[in-house]
Amino acid sequence: MRLDKLISDKMNITRSQAKALIKSGSVYVNGAAVLLCDKKVGETDSITADGRQISTSRFVYIMMNKPEGVICATGSEEEKTVLDILPEDMAVRGLFPAGRLDKDTTGFVLLTDDGEFAHRILSPKNHIVKTYIATLDKPCTDEVISDFEGGMLLGDEKLLPAKLKILSGNTVQVEISQGIYHQIKRMFKKHGITVLALKRTAMGNVLLDEKLALGECRYLTDEEIAQICKKQ
Ligand code: URA
Repeated sequence: MRLDKLISDKMNITRSQAKALIKSGSVYVNGAAVLLCDKKVGETDSITADGRQISTSRFVYIMMNKPEGVICATGSEEEKTVLDILPEDMAVRGLFPAGRLDKDTTGFVLLTDDGEFAHRILSPKNHIVKTYIATLDKPCTDEVISDFEGGMLLGDEKLLPAKLKILSGNTVQVEISQGIYHQIKRMFKKHGITVLALKRTAMGNVLLDEKLALGECRYLTDEEIAQICKKQ
């Protein structure tokens, strides 16, 4: 793609701002300053702008450790969104959260501008497991575990089988491969149990990076991008 388009997309600046940056001599391709805005660049080129490494991958994949009080949406008049808390230099155009966590749920949110990838990891047909740790107001019985595992009837809907493992006391691990509104809270509610806290700890084979504090994020590695969709 053209250098000015890449810079504008990845730095979230206008095409004319990208052109000005290139003409100022602040953009380097493979170690040499480049002043040509229409220079063609590809995935094998190493590019910096204003001293910052610019990814040449067509798409962006970000892992965020979502804090409470932030919603998974691309914009809101009233609420703070996951896009609002992204560092400015990661906030490229077209990013959206692949799947939603509730406002009070914390943990792994994947932000991308790759619609096909998002569809692949969210479609229940692909059985990409999302793992959560839930703190409950009371312990789980064997009856609850077998209802989760058998594919529970929730309202009119027959859910896909889910795994429920007791970690300690009222803390459990839940694995689901679909994303129905408030799914985990409603699954427990059916059994008279309230979820007091919920955290997503993994998507597919990729674990939330525990080095990320709440509200922090980082790019997924190429390996993680490949791993996330692999059969578990
Ligand atoms: N299930 C819920 O109830 N809430 C979430 O945020 C995710 C799964």
